[in-house]
Amino acid sequence: MATENPLLDRRELFKLGVFSSAALALPVERVARMQVALSNRIAQSALPQPFTIPFKTPPVLAPDCRTQDIDYYTIHQRQATAEILPGKLTDIWGYNGLLPGPTIVATQGRQTVVQQVNDLPAVHPTLRYNVRTSTHLHGSCSEPQYDGYASDTTDGASWKDYVYPDLQTARTLWYHDHAVHTTAPNVFMGLAAMYILHDADELALPIPHGAYDVPFVLTDAMFEDNGALLFDANDDSGFHGDVLLVNGVPWPAMAVERRRYRFRILNASVSRSYGLQLDSGEPLTVVATDAGLVPHPIATSRLKIGMGERYEVVIDFSGHQIGQRVVMQNVSPKNNTDFATTGVVMAFDVAAEASDLSDNEVPVDLDPGCPTMALAEADALRTRRLEFKRDGGQWTINGTTWDDVVNSGYQKVLANPGYDDVEIWELSNPHGGWFHPVHIHLVDFRVLDRNGRAPFDYEQGPKDVVYVGENETVRVIARFEHQQGRYMTHCHNLVHEDHAMMGQFLVGADAPSYDPIDAAPAQHKPARPVCDRLDEPTAAAGATGPAGPTASAIRRCTPKKRKIAGKPKRPVAKRKSKPASATCAPAKRKPVARRRRRRRRH
Ligand code: C2O
Ligand code: CU
Repeated sequence: MATENPLLDRRELFKLGVFSSAALALPVERVARMQVALSNRIAQSALPQPFTIPFKTPPVLAPDCRTQDIDYYTIHQRQATAEILPGKLTDIWGYNGLLPGPTIVATQGRQTVVQQVNDLPAVHPTLRYNVRTSTHLHGSCSEPQYDGYASDTTDGASWKDYVYPDLQTARTLWYHDHAVHTTAPNVFMGLAAMYILHDADELALPIPHGAYDVPFVLTDAMFEDNGALLFDANDDSGFHGDVLLVNGVPWPAMAVERRRYRFRILNASVSRSYGLQLDSGEPLTVVATDAGLVPHPIATSRLKIGMGERYEVVIDFSGHQIGQRVVMQNVSPKNNTDFATTGVVMAFDVAAEASDLSDNEVPVDLDPGCPTMALAEADALRTRRLEFKRDGGQWTINGTTWDDVVNSGYQKVLANPGYDDVEIWELSNPHGGWFHPVHIHLVDFRVLDRNGRAPFDYEQGPKDVVYVGENETVRVIARFEHQQGRYMTHCHNLVHEDHAMMGQFLVGADAPSYDPIDAAPAQHKPARPVCDRLDEPTAAAGATGPAGPTASAIRRCTPKKRKIAGKPKRPVAKRKSKPASATCAPAKRKPVARRRRRRRRH
């Protein structure tokens, strides 16, 4: 257990009534506020020329073992040396030492357990904070104790098993650090990676799959002369680097065939948003948003993507001749700090005829029956308003910060929707000087409108982050389904999140068995690989004990068939062997968390 964690200690003291909340009002850590001298930033002339380094994709992580229903993985969070800029060595923090981390590929209907071992240095090399981590699988309806709750941290003496239900529809998720007050520098150092969830319907669509379905993790960075990463939170307004990286490669060039490709674009940047477009003027065809397939494809000439957002886009290179180059440009949205180098992202070099022309279409119907997109205003039981404001140097939600949550013994909530309730949340940014991509954990939502007008064309799909721009009020509608318990909501500008534009909401009733901090705390090293203890009888006691989760301890939900309008997209036979897709039927299903009450902490 992470007993060295001052926040946990304070929480314990709070429970014992030792301190008044006034005495706790100041957070212990204000580390990322530290300013770093930028004088030793590497000269622009020493940066690589764009499109000179080959594109690459992160490796797919192999499971340690698999049971009938579950895939088990181990990840060591560790410092490693990477050559990001040619000829320079950079210390990064990566999942298994990689930047970005390895991609996890999951299938709906199975479950995933990831053992995260914190092998990072005890102290950040320049910012000097005590390093703790918390791993969030962004896009997953995980139980609260496996959701990467900011204050549920794992220090360098510890490890933790995370259990992912994988019961939702196909989507592009990502796992990233979420540690209280240090998420921005932790993620900046490299703790971010993609997680791809497939389902049978998505796999049956004739859209690009396999080698033509490509992860695209977009970040920005800044370096010192000696290659070290340079972090500057800019008086807590945000970090903006002068080097753009796709999958950890600065301005890469990708050789493509004359056919369609699908790119899973994830903006994993700390604070930078992008306006992506192709110099050829061709459209980007959006086939999926954060939380999965859009009902029908949406072509757009430019895609604005905020931090934490994902858009799966199809690009068709068949109209180009071999030898032609298509450049992806960045027309920077307002209130980013731009550099001469941040106007281009990467290049696609059309290099060959298609070697495979299967799955080379974008059908008109992708997921026309998507339940999130079927939510109507009339379904909502209530409307809540959340105001995202800078207040006395603090980033706040309705005037509160995460420190208020900490100081309340983690009890204070911004909202308490009932289990399975549908609500409208009105997210408002009354200021013109910055934007806030707002993320609501647990749920998929539909964007209803923006300043009373229709949302952008391309955000008309299921989402979990929405770009709340300057002087904008955005209304979203969601069903608070799948789990009960406390979940975070926050700005995905990680510097804003750290200081501390983050709060929580409680779905349904609270219970100790799914307390985000106490129900499955980190364990002391040495880590015990899950695959070595699958047969231990004590393991069945549950995920919270030292034995960790096992097949018998993890419940499956019964997936409900996705409503598909019209005829099947592929011969039915091809889908038979796969699990039925779509989300669990809420009426028939108790929240997963409830059924695990008997689990005990050891
Ligand atoms: Cu992508 Cu609360 O995070
Ligand atoms: Cu913000």
